[in-house]
Amino acid sequence: SWTTGNVIEEQVAAIREQVGDKRAICGLSGGVDSAVAAALVQKAIGSQLTCVYVDHGLMRKGETEQVEKDFVAATGVQLKVVDAEERFLKALAGVSDPEEKRKIIGREFIRVFEQAQAEIIADEGPAVEFLVQGTLYPDVVESGGGTGTANIKSHHNVGGLPEDLEFQLIEPLRKLFKDEVRMVGQELGLPEEIVQRQPFPGPGLGIRIVGDVTKERLDLLRDADAIAREELTAAGLDREIWQCPVVLLADVRSVGVQGDGRTYGHPIVLRPVSSEDAMTADWSRLPYDVLAKISTRITNEVRDVNRVVVDVTSKPPGTIEWE
Ligand code: XMP
Repeated sequence: SWTTGNVIEEQVAAIREQVGDKRAICGLSGGVDSAVAAALVQKAIGSQLTCVYVDHGLMRKGETEQVEKDFVAATGVQLKVVDAEERFLKALAGVSDPEEKRKIIGREFIRVFEQAQAEIIADEGPAVEFLVQGTLYPDVVESGGGTGTANIKSHHNVGGLPEDLEFQLIEPLRKLFKDEVRMVGQELGLPEEIVQRQPFPGPGLGIRIVGDVTKERLDLLRDADAIAREELTAAGLDREIWQCPVVLLADVRSVGVQGDGRTYGHPIVLRPVSSEDAMTADWSRLPYDVLAKISTRITNEVRDVNRVVVDVTSKPPGTIEWE
């Protein structure tokens, strides 16, 4: 019968058999799937695995630390963190078109990842022949069930791989659904914040700033987002909503009155949605008192924000993200 214990045991044995005495690498995105896949492979082959985490500077507050500290503490995994914030900011400077942003972030991500990969391959030790991927069962079905090659929807291609991939893939989650992956992660002792994490786009906060991306705007959005997440969690709403993008309208200003006088600041948009699979979504009817608390806190605590608005558009016609 299906138990997380059985799944883990089976996968650990299979991975050991597959990898032998060679080495493997795994890209961590901060998301559930790559974290659980990495933890499983780490359990199987220990220091023969090296994980790579590219810090593109577009993560939410505390997320990089979660990977660097909590995930490493929970798994003992060997982790190479690449601080690439400056590089990403430079590449994104002055760019406000959403697809252009995605392209730049994807391209830079692959370059940085490949560089890190080359460094790991050059290190002393057995040949690096394997690449770990957090492919889930729905991804397998969607892509026709092929094995052995990287198969990532271009839409979700941050962390994606070049076409001329020369690794064999290890995909320990290929038979699992998302809720099963979370159970396996929990059984492996991963932090709750990682195991229960809601979907978050690969390009991160880069596509939640309407306008061009700067460090200052990212910091501001990070603060607003952290407040919204804190209050939604405190209200016990995390399982009820699919995700709640928080968006900074950096190119919009409106008049407000704060403290001693008139302000001319930016609006923050809350985009809470309920969904089964992100293909369609409905806007979440959040309790007014929760919305009030978030609004009050954001306008009080986040500099340059003088207005909070709620997006009440379903998908379709609106996408979940604003970009
Ligand atoms: P949309 O905005 O298309 O989003 O309704 C559907 C789901 O996909 C996520 N999303 C992305 N994930 N890279 C990703 O890895 C992306 O470029 C990207 N764009 C959107 C979004 O958060 C939602 O869960």
